[in-house]
Amino acid sequence: MDALRKTTVIEPLNGSLLGSIRVPGDKSISHRAVLLAAMAEGTSRLSGVLDSADVRSTIGAVRSLGAQVSLSKTADGSLEGGVVGWGSAGPHQPDGPIDCGNSGTTVRLLMGVLAPWDISVELTGDDSLRRRPMRRVCMPLVRMGARFEPEDNETLPITIHGTRKLRPIDYATPVASAQVKTAILLAGLSANGTTRVTEPAASRNHTELMLPGFGAQATSAAGVAEVEGPVTLKACEIPVPGDPSSAAFIACAAALIPESAVQIEGVSLNPTRIGFLRTLEQMGVDASRRSVSSLGRELTGIISVEYCDRLHGCEVPADKIATLIDEIPVLSLVASRARGVTVFRGVDELRVKETDRAAAIVEGLELMGVDAWIEGSDLFIEGNPEAAPSPGTVFDAHDDHRLAMTWALAGMVCGVPVEVSGFESVAISYPRFLEDVRGLVR
Ligand code: S3P
Repeated sequence: MDALRKTTVIEPLNGSLLGSIRVPGDKSISHRAVLLAAMAEGTSRLSGVLDSADVRSTIGAVRSLGAQVSLSKTADGSLEGGVVGWGSAGPHQPDGPIDCGNSGTTVRLLMGVLAPWDISVELTGDDSLRRRPMRRVCMPLVRMGARFEPEDNETLPITIHGTRKLRPIDYATPVASAQVKTAILLAGLSANGTTRVTEPAASRNHTELMLPGFGAQATSAAGVAEVEGPVTLKACEIPVPGDPSSAAFIACAAALIPESAVQIEGVSLNPTRIGFLRTLEQMGVDASRRSVSSLGRELTGIISVEYCDRLHGCEVPADKIATLIDEIPVLSLVASRARGVTVFRGVDELRVKETDRAAAIVEGLELMGVDAWIEGSDLFIEGNPEAAPSPGTVFDAHDDHRLAMTWALAGMVCGVPVEVSGFESVAISYPRFLEDVRGLVR
């Protein structure tokens, strides 16, 4: 690691976590709300939108394509307001390349948004995003009629040349990826007929749940999603629930800190997102959820988690990985303090996230004296209830927000001050993470 890199000192928490909290808006739903509103005819009203660097990338992108976004910050820190979409007139040719920053969701979904229009747009991003695979999205869009330059490029920058003559597709994707699925479905809205995506395991279904509110026909069940085109989306109202991926950090901290009991309110309980609760339960944690309402078609409610003094390892099968893909770093921290071995099967996708998260988890747990290793596609962690970093250990977050929060928690829950380099990356998904955790200490 570069010795000159800035590190953030994380002090241990001196107390239990007790009480209720609301976490910021869901990142995946916020991206989709902004994008679909930008595509729609008329003014959509959005509330509860996550104010983070990734969502700002999406807002910046749709603005440069001609949508008028008037979202302002509310007392609870979320964004609320109107988005006037381009509707049947289509997006403008932007002045220059669109920089999607760190956001894979922004760039991959934009490819599907842009594919049906006669414009050419160069898409790029930060160092991390420029290393991530894009052919998984470009390939099916090429089959629908779009063109990409350079042809067959795996990485950004890539220029997309759209076409008004997009064809529907029946596509079996080799990876369970909501980003791939959504890009194809969004393009399919402009193709004449049924566009179908079949996945090896069901990924998050926020797009399919949100589209009918905008007047489109969309369905998803058992790993098969479909839309009917052509259709012009009509503006609607979208309330965004709290983010279960952010809630997972609070839940895991509560499970690890003696005498803790927390409730996380107003959070999405979409079954494609809360696999982490099942895994915590399998490890022995008293973790439950109570659905209270539906925000739009998204199930929303309360997650309750208590401290567990007898954590034990468990096995997460490959077909459940998509339901907890972003939670594997923090679940690995819980597994490192459990008795016995935990296995996450089929985690190849971790290698192509904001950084190679599989390698980063092994590296970070080693600093805690915990054996973790990868065999084929599986991640193994041999837990030890006494595992802890030495005081002053420097964890490298590799500028990855979920690793930054995971290693910060390692210090907070193990009772030793640690340093995290690249901690600023929390701005990507959960800017007020430290304040939220510290606010629950009693
Ligand atoms: C996301 C889907 C997931 C997830 C990412 C957000 C989305 O990625 O890891 O953080 O909003 O669609 P994949 O679809 O590539 O698995």
